[in-house]
Amino acid sequence: MAQNVGILYICTGNYIIFWEGFYRSAEKYLLPGFERHYFVFTDGQINTFENQNIKVIYQEKLGWPLDTLFRFKMFLKAEDDLRTMDYLYFFNANLVLLQTAGNEILPCENEELTVVQHPGFFNKKRKEFTYDTNKKSLAYIPKEEGTVYIAGGLNGGASVPYLKMINALSANIDDDYRRKVIALWHDESHINRYIIGKNVKILPPSYLYPEGWDIPFEKTILILDKKRFGGHKALRR
Ligand code: GAL
Repeated sequence: MAQNVGILYICTGNYIIFWEGFYRSAEKYLLPGFERHYFVFTDGQINTFENQNIKVIYQEKLGWPLDTLFRFKMFLKAEDDLRTMDYLYFFNANLVLLQTAGNEILPCENEELTVVQHPGFFNKKRKEFTYDTNKKSLAYIPKEEGTVYIAGGLNGGASVPYLKMINALSANIDDDYRRKVIALWHDESHINRYIIGKNVKILPPSYLYPEGWDIPFEKTILILDKKRFGGHKALRR
C-alpha cells in the first residue's frame, strides 16, 4: 500500500493567491508514489469538489506576525487527522516545486525531522546567524550553540516526531506569548532552537531557492518573490 503524506499549508487573507500554483506543482513533483493529502488552513474558498485530497480547516487571519508565530497551534486543530498520516510536511504559501522532491526529503531512520538550510545564511558565519538572543524567549540560543541556520518555510518528517515537535513548539510559543515575548523570527527561531542537539536531515537551499537570487544550488523548490504579488504589506492585509 502506498504511504501517505499530509501537506500542511496556510493561506489566510490574500495569501490564497498562491494556493493553485502550489497545489498544481506539488501534485506534479512532490513525493511521487505517495498518497498526498492536503490540509489547508484558510478563511478563503478552495475547490475541494474536484480535488478530493484537499481538506480545508477554517482559519481566521490573525494578523502579522501572529499568522506565522501560531502556525503550529493551527496545525494542532487537525491533530487527530494528522496522526493518521505516515509523514507530515509544512510548506510556506509562496512556494512552488520546479522539479521532483522525492524520497531524498524523507528523514533517514536515525533522523528525527527534515529541515532546510536558510538560503540567506549558507555562506555566513555563526555570528551572523539571526538566532534569538533574548534570554527571556524559549527560542534563545547561547553563543556557543548552533552550527547551521534553518529557514522556517519548509519542514517535515514522520508524523509521530513531527507532531511531537509541533506540540512542544506550540507550548513554548504560548509560554513566551503569555510573558509578552515574541521570538525574533517567530516560528523560525523556535525551530532553530528545537533542532540543536537532535539528529535531523538538513536539506540544502535548493529546497528553498528565492526567486531572482543567484546562489550555487539547484532550483528544486522556488520561493516566489512576494514583490511580484504586491509586496509583504499588501499580502499581510
Ligand atoms: C529573511 C527572511 C525572513 C527570515 C530572516 C532571518 O531573509 O525573509 O523570513 O527568515 O531572513 O534572518
